[in-house]
Amino acid sequence: MLSASGRSPDRSGIASWRANSIARQSGSRLSSTAMDVSIQPERPADHEAVADVVRRAFVEDPRVAGMVSSIRRSPRYRSGLALVARAEGRIAGFVMCSGTDLVSDDGTIREVLTLAPLAVAPEFQGRGIGAALVRAVISEADRDGEPLVVLEGSPSYYGRLGFRFAPDLGIHLDLPERAPREAAQAYPLSNYELQVRGRVAYPPAIAALAG
Ligand SMILES: CC(C)(COP(=O)(O)OP(=O)(O)OC[C@H]1O[C@@H](n2cnc3c(N)ncnc32)[C@H](O)[C@@H]1OP(=O)(O)O)[C@@H](O)C(=O)NCCC(=O)NCCS
Repeated sequence: MLSASGRSPDRSGIASWRANSIARQSGSRLSSTAMDVSIQPERPADHEAVADVVRRAFVEDPRVAGMVSSIRRSPRYRSGLALVARAEGRIAGFVMCSGTDLVSDDGTIREVLTLAPLAVAPEFQGRGIGAALVRAVISEADRDGEPLVVLEGSPSYYGRLGFRFAPDLGIHLDLPERAPREAAQAYPLSNYELQVRGRVAYPPAIAALAG
């Protein structure tokens, strides 16, 4: 599906490519047209449209859009790791990595990243935008010298993007009761070391939603 990708050194554009846009026509006929997609860090002017995408993707949990605003207002926000995907002149998807504490057995606290949320507008889903956003934010986090990204999510979705079962790396997340234990996932980056282990303690902006 991805036919091209490129990035500029100043981060004004992290990736861009031409994706197939599948539009359903009369009856069951499908038509496929090309659609340009690009990924960039969000700008303040994008916040409203990002909130709209997040609300429509997480229609069953309106608190997620509020979490994004809370993270932006917190010291854990990383502006270069909040990325939007643009397609057809609007925001089609959003991903955010922000800081969270990892508390080791001896009480040492180090900051790692947590990926949340990932959201693609319903009309743009299933065209690789979510996967491209995850790859882009992982690549930017690696470029920033971060050691680790953790998340709670579908192991089938994130597993094929390189995430691993977090407890295998000595990383423990307190999951909500409804989540399977496989939902705890981690992605070790180039600067990962074996000492990067322990229990994830979310900052208030995220803890309000977790558990
Ligand atoms: C999950 C989400 C971000 C995926 O974005 P996307 O652009 O549609 O994803 P991609 O095109 O990269 O990948 C599509 C594939 O992911 C699968 N997929 C979508 N949502 C999934 C989920 N929750 N669990 C597992 N697989 C999922 C699709 O079935 C499809 O599989 P296929 O390639 O085998 O056909 C998007 O569906 C979304 O915003 N959902 C609502 C919010 C949400 O659940 N966010 C993730 C929280 S962990």
